[in-house]
Amino acid sequence: EKIPCSIHNNILDGSKHVAAIIAETIRNSQAEGKACVLGLATGSTPKTLYAELVRMHREEGLSFANVISFNLDEYYPIEREAYQSYYHFMHRMLFNHVDMKPEHIHIPNGEWPKDAIKQYCLEYEKQIEEAGGVDLQILGIGMNGHIGFNEPGSSIHSHTRLTNLDNTTRFANLYEFPNISQVPRLAITMGISTILKAKKIVLMAWGSGKAPVVQKAAEEHMTEHIPASLLQQHTDTLFVLDAAAAAEL
Ligand code: GLP
Repeated sequence: EKIPCSIHNNILDGSKHVAAIIAETIRNSQAEGKACVLGLATGSTPKTLYAELVRMHREEGLSFANVISFNLDEYYPIEREAYQSYYHFMHRMLFNHVDMKPEHIHIPNGEWPKDAIKQYCLEYEKQIEEAGGVDLQILGIGMNGHIGFNEPGSSIHSHTRLTNLDNTTRFANLYEFPNISQVPRLAITMGISTILKAKKIVLMAWGSGKAPVVQKAAEEHMTEHIPASLLQQHTDTLFVLDAAAAAEL
């Protein structure tokens, strides 16, 4: 097993495990009087995690006042206020319910003019660096092994950029949209190299549908065909799985 895995009975237990890692990272930074930089993910996988963080804020006084966040990705083009945008998702699931400072929240802007996107992506990378780099990066994994929206074939050297979505990914995310023609064909995503710069990485996966790709990413040789396998390069990566997603390890 090349990537260490933490296996749990169910999604709630796995999500609580990740929430505890996040809370520890936040509290360590608070103790040092520093900002805590989190890289955050969207999709169905982290929903229970965000609910647990909101609970810890309400019931245990976990504060997000020193947290600076950078989201992995966003559809392009998309209006920020659209229900399907990751901007809307993050506010609905987390930011509206905790004490994050609005100026500490960074999500790639799906409304940015296309002719200025390259510069915008460079700026996004620069903002991460200026914040001190990501302390803890949270990831999900696509059925095809994508992380963020780094589809198969994405280079290990890739940076934040505008990228094409695989049609399989568009269909996987269709449940959020009225029909397939409305699912964007493009996205802004942090690159693989951006992700690998994080000090610590935690990838979550739930359910039997993810079992084959989890096995390939964690145990087989590194390949750009399975972007998540490139995490084997990183010395502090953990996969947090439920029993079903771990079934093929
Ligand atoms: C989405 C996101 C990824 C996410 C993945 C898995 O489209 N861009 O960041 O990890 O695909 O999605 P889900 O968690 O819904 O299975």
